[in-house]
Amino acid sequence: MSLLLTNIGELTTHTDEHGTLRNAAVVVEDGHIAWVGPTDKAPAADTQEDLAGRAVLPGWVDSHTHLVSMGDRAEEFVDRMAGRPYEAGGIMRTVDATRAATDDDLRARARWLREEAYRGGTTTIEAKTGYGLDVETEQRLARISAETADVVTYLGAHVVPADTDRRAYIDLVTGPMLAAVAPYASHIDVFCEIGAFDVEESREILRAGRDAGLGVKVHGNQLGESGGVQLAVELGARSVDHCNHLSPKDVEALAGSDTVATILPACDLSTREPFAPARDLVDAGVTIAIASNCNPGSSFTTSMAFCVATAVLQQRLTFEEALWAATVGGATALGLDDSTGRITEGGRADLHALDAPSAKHLAYRPGVLLTHRVWKNGVPV
Ligand code: NIG
Repeated sequence: MSLLLTNIGELTTHTDEHGTLRNAAVVVEDGHIAWVGPTDKAPAADTQEDLAGRAVLPGWVDSHTHLVSMGDRAEEFVDRMAGRPYEAGGIMRTVDATRAATDDDLRARARWLREEAYRGGTTTIEAKTGYGLDVETEQRLARISAETADVVTYLGAHVVPADTDRRAYIDLVTGPMLAAVAPYASHIDVFCEIGAFDVEESREILRAGRDAGLGVKVHGNQLGESGGVQLAVELGARSVDHCNHLSPKDVEALAGSDTVATILPACDLSTREPFAPARDLVDAGVTIAIASNCNPGSSFTTSMAFCVATAVLQQRLTFEEALWAATVGGATALGLDDSTGRITEGGRADLHALDAPSAKHLAYRPGVLLTHRVWKNGVPV
């Protein structure tokens, strides 16, 4: 079955061949893009839909979430809004709620959040473990993440659980826990931060993951200059996420590397950390991604549109830079193929149509639900 979408007012393709097209059309066939061009040159298809001047862009690639998790930390959020600082220790509250949940509870919650994300235009989602912190629960989270998300990241090194010997926990994370989770995951991550894991510990854990065939990601420089960015660059990580506190040397190291700096604007607002210096990063030539960091503790949103609008309104990215970071940037941070985050012949038909004539309206009309329709692999979601 093929579907022809016509009268697209503005089509953002993120390809050199097509760039941004006006009055465009797209043919979708078998879940993929079969044709892109002007409406008046479009070939016939089995079915047709007139988008009446609406903008279409690639679906969001949300490269950092903790989708499989339980609990509600609204009270902690209220305290933060009243001035209490964000601390890594809050993670254990989500761990307690997550450990107590059944597989069905976890699955239902992850699916609810995933549907919410889809309704806002997300078509690719990463999910991290990290709220189990014992072998059995980490493996459960990885298995349910593999069922619900597109990319799974192992984050056994989120914090050392209370009353646990540090050395014994690191041995567990790099040994039996890694072996139990690795079959479900493509990446390993570490929270390299004060109150979590220091640089030496993080290096040991990430190397163990890399030796097991996993790609490397780092939570770094969220609460201070933790050394996470330098470690990520040293290990050739796909991404270092958060990046709130960067020295000029950190920016320089990222600029000379292939490591993506993933910024998490909703988390910065929700934790009242200074925004990641997105403008400086882009100006220095660093590849950046924008992600939601959906989790009940530090960023309980699935809205990539909100993150993109914040990056434009508060972090001085141009609209085009933010849109690119939330699509192609996210795909790069996950090591996905070149067509993800783009609308290109042969690539997956992951499309996001807006009730607006231009994708710029996502920042121009912040907080307004503009999503008209979303297709993942050519299927409306
Ligand atoms: O990316 N920073 C570390 N981990 C998560 C969430 C932690 C939490 O539950 O507070 C994050 O923000």
